[in-house]
This record gives sequence, structure tokens and C-alpha cells, in this order.
Amino acid sequence: METNSFILKGNICYSKNKDELSVTENGYLVCVEGISKGVFLQLPEKYKGLPVKDHGNALILPGMTDLHVHAPQYTFRGMGMDLELLEWLETHTFPEESRYQELDYAEKAYGIFTDDLKRSATTRAVVFATIHGPATRLLMDKLEASGLKTYVGKVNMDRNCADYLREPSPEASLEATERWIAETMGQYRNTSPILTPRFVPTCSDALLAGLGDLRRKYGLPVQSHLSENLSEIGWVKELCPWSSCYGDAYARFGLFGGEAKTVMAHCVHSTEEEVELIRANGVYVAHCPQSNTNLSSGIAPIRKYLDKGIQVGLGTDVAGGADLSMFRCMADAVAVSKLRWRLADQELKALTTEEAFYLATVGGGSFFGKVGSFEEGYEFDALIADDSGVRCARTLTVEDRVKRYVYLAQEQGRLVSKYVAGRQVMGKM
Ligand code: GUN
Ligand code: FE
Repeated sequence: METNSFILKGNICYSKNKDELSVTENGYLVCVEGISKGVFLQLPEKYKGLPVKDHGNALILPGMTDLHVHAPQYTFRGMGMDLELLEWLETHTFPEESRYQELDYAEKAYGIFTDDLKRSATTRAVVFATIHGPATRLLMDKLEASGLKTYVGKVNMDRNCADYLREPSPEASLEATERWIAETMGQYRNTSPILTPRFVPTCSDALLAGLGDLRRKYGLPVQSHLSENLSEIGWVKELCPWSSCYGDAYARFGLFGGEAKTVMAHCVHSTEEEVELIRANGVYVAHCPQSNTNLSSGIAPIRKYLDKGIQVGLGTDVAGGADLSMFRCMADAVAVSKLRWRLADQELKALTTEEAFYLATVGGGSFFGKVGSFEEGYEFDALIADDSGVRCARTLTVEDRVKRYVYLAQEQGRLVSKYVAGRQVMGKM
């Protein structure tokens, strides 16, 4: 058996629960065969034979999960930020995604995406590709080699989009999807397929019904978009007059939690009925604050979801969001929650930095199992962050340094190395 058992020494911080950080200064974090054995101030006798990597004054944090990101959109991030969702899709997104028909282009673009994701704070990601099976496989090959743990979806869309990106029929879309499942399911160590109807406006009822059948047949998880933008929600009402809410349009076809592990991005404008369906079915919400701002979608009531015990994680939603930084994503989640409290609803308290940290680690990580914490029994995903470049005349506590890092990582913070399930994927070995 491959031995990935070792100890990291440094300033260790993780979420004890939603509201509290566990901080151990100059502590030992023990990994045995890819699993955390916990954090210790004094190293227990039984671990004394393991190699110790001393990271000095650096911060040791859990890996982050990006619960919603579009790999093909990495090429135009930061561009075309002047439109709302539906126009943005037509104008910028669909033309770009059609380019992944060409494997040479996909090779180049997915190479850059994977490289940058590998260097980011993300250890796990739930990823949209495009409708193209071969390019999606190529992305999966690259992500597999990166050592990051990912779910990747070949997108389905058979209506309401330009010919160049529309799968010709529900049957053709389902056939291509089943072929892609056969080629990828169980084929990788780090990467696996996730069913990915883009969203209700681009998926006919027949396609959604067929995807529900594939889901049952293969037991795959599901990802999609839900109640993101008002114009989109109005359109779904017209397209599915039979549905009681947008979420119901997925649920009717077995694509909304329950047996199907499901993550829905956004849920900005979910009705009370939809929120109850999300909760009852155990559907994950991927909160994407930067994207919801850039595409003028709104601010999701994350406090309400947390109070109801709904599973929530954070997503960058590149290219709705402009960058892959989960630290930026956390800071944005806190910031927009404050605007929501101030401008829309003072019943819902703003999120705290501790809560955002929890969402980025344990919240999203739980989609992958026991991930996002250093408690004993969790898969060992860890980041070593050097904040010595973020200068300050004061002496700071480790907790202050972690909270500051959330806001200042992009200033002079530096990720020194990264571990996924006990394997080092980045930094000096
Ligand atoms: N809804 C359907 N497709 C997309 C997409 O690519 N990005 C976002 N943010 N929302 C969508
Ligand atoms: Fe998205």
C-alpha cells in the first residue's frame, strides 16, 4: 500500500462547527493513510515514528470545495460583465462553449483551467464542462492528473439555444451522455461523472425524463442551476406550466435529491415551497455570491437556509464569478449577506467570517463525504498558507491571521503547498 502517513507542524485552524474555529498554535496535524487523526499540541507516542514537516509560522487550513464552477468559461472570465444572465449566456457563454467541439482548443483551455485550479485553494470541485463528450473526457483526464478530487459533468441541452450548441434531440443527448458515462464512470481515481442538465430552459421534458432514467440506472449524482435570476424563473413558469415551482420541474423527473445526491447552484429567489423541497430532499445549495452580483441576479438568503438545516457550500461559478479564489468567495458571501440585511431583510442576520469558512470547507466538502475538517476520520485535504507577505505592525493571533487571510489572500498571501486525501499535489515535495 502506498504510504501517505505523515505529520504537518504549524498553526492549525479548522471549523469546529459553523460558529467556531479550532485554533492550535504550533500544533501537530496527523495524517495516516490519507485520513486525519486529529490535531495535537503534544504529539502522541504512537505517531512519533512518522515523518514531520515543520511549516514554522505558516497557517495550516483545510482544503476548500468549489461546489459550482464552469471549466470552459475560464477563458472569458472578467469579460462581458455588463449583462444579466440570459443575455450573458446568449452573447458570451454559448459562443465560447461551442469552441470545445475542437479538441485542440479544449486541450489548451482546459490545460490552463486545470493548472490554475491546482494552484488555488481548491482541493475539491464540482465542475460543468460543455455538451461535448470528447472534450469533457479530456477535461476529466487533466483533472485526474492534477490530483484534485472532482465531479465533472457533460452538459445536456436540447432546446432554447443556438444550433451550434444544441444537441439535436433528447435521444441524441441521452445517447451521447450514456456513452460518456460508460467511458468515464469508475475509470478514474480522483474524477467521476455527474449528470448535468444545464437548466430547465435548455432541457426538454423528454430529456429531463431520460436523464432521470440514467440517474436511476447508474446511481449518479446531479448538478444544475435553480432560481438564479428573475427572468429565468419567469421563463421556467412558461415552459413548465405543470410544475408547482422551478425545483419541482427537476423533482418530477427524479433529479432533485432524495436518492439522487444533488447540488443546485444559486437558489437566490426560491419560493417557500421550493425551499421546503430543497430541505426535505437533502439538496445542496451552491451559493455563488460573486456571480449573483455580476449577473445582477440578487442575494440568496443563506442565513435562512442554514437556519433550516439545508446543506450549503460555496461556488465561484466562473465565469459568472471572475476568479477561482475560494477566499474571495468567502469574503463575498459575508459582504453580500450584509447588503441583504441592510437593504432587503433585517430578519436575516449577516453571515460571519467563521460561517463563510465553514461553508467553504465542511459545508461544500460534505458533498464528497467526510471532507473539510481536521477532526479525526476526515479525508486529509490541507493547505499551507504563508501570510508573512501581508505585513502588519501589530502582533496578531492565529485566529486573526486566518480571518485576515480570507480577505487578503490575494494581496500578498501565498499557498506553499496543498494536500488532497493525504497526497501532496502542489508545492515543494
Ligand atoms: N444558468 C444556465 N447556464 C448557466 C451558466 O453557465 N452560468 C450561470 N451562472 N447560470 C447558468
Ligand atoms: Fe453556473
